[in-house]
Amino acid sequence: MIGLMVERDVGVFDRDPEAYHRARPGYSDDVIDFVVEGLPVGARALEVACGTGYATLPVLDRGLSVTCVDRGARLLEFVAERTRGRPIEFVCARFQDFEPEPGAFDLVYVAQAWHWLGYEGTGAREDRHARVARALKPDGRLAIIQCFVHNNWTEADDLYRKHWPGTGEGGGDLLPAAERLERMRAEVSLGGHLVPTEVRTWRDDRTYTAQGYVDWLATTSDHGALPPDVQHPFFAAIKKRIEEQGGTIVRPYEVCVIRARRRDG
Ligand SMILES: C[S@@+](CC[C@H](N)C(=O)[O-])C[C@H]1O[C@@H](n2cnc3c(N)ncnc32)[C@H](O)[C@@H]1O
Repeated sequence: MIGLMVERDVGVFDRDPEAYHRARPGYSDDVIDFVVEGLPVGARALEVACGTGYATLPVLDRGLSVTCVDRGARLLEFVAERTRGRPIEFVCARFQDFEPEPGAFDLVYVAQAWHWLGYEGTGAREDRHARVARALKPDGRLAIIQCFVHNNWTEADDLYRKHWPGTGEGGGDLLPAAERLERMRAEVSLGGHLVPTEVRTWRDDRTYTAQGYVDWLATTSDHGALPPDVQHPFFAAIKKRIEEQGGTIVRPYEVCVIRARRRDG
């Protein structure tokens, strides 16, 4: 059978920020506390790829000021509407085109987007490491939040084969946790600009209703990019399968935060 090639589409996130925000969960207090741990009230944070602000509002709530950079204009408007009067500023740009104020930030953080920065070409993806290092104060911190789902939903393999031939459920990260963390450390060290310092992980299983699950799939850059004539019947079949299985599906998630410092800091 001929496979259906779907290019991941970064534009999916900016298409409908309300729908994105409804379909995705935020981050627990433990995760955000670890990101800002030890930073004083009034510290300056640069959040790269803020999306709808799931990691922005809790950082503002902890007393930091935030500069948000995201390529999505609608996403930034969504966050701006919810943060009026707070110490926040916005830059609509791709991170690879953004030149941060050198040595200005106590914290640079990125939630579920590190892998996107530079994805669209224009220069090496490793450029983001040097750019982050330039933005940080000498004793500043990078924190990357990344979520992993631990298995593929094999009960739906037949639906994937039928509607989206040539792919599996995808998104599942089947590496053992220790190996995945080792890869994250190695990745952050690329180019020699940053040194990983601590990593912490939290189990965060998520239960979805049939509608909630397809709403979530629609916010992902691969499922969300499927053409409507493929996506609609495929999502209808997924919903039916979840309803037949009792109406909910549990996905085993893990949230990881890796912190790093400037090598020369
Ligand atoms: C999966 S969303 C994560 C959003 C948010 N941080 C969260 O945790 O919900 C990915 C985000 O990365 C942004 N993004 C992707 N590539 C980017 C780039 N090169 N520069 C800046 N933002 C980018 C998208 O616009 C989107 O907001």
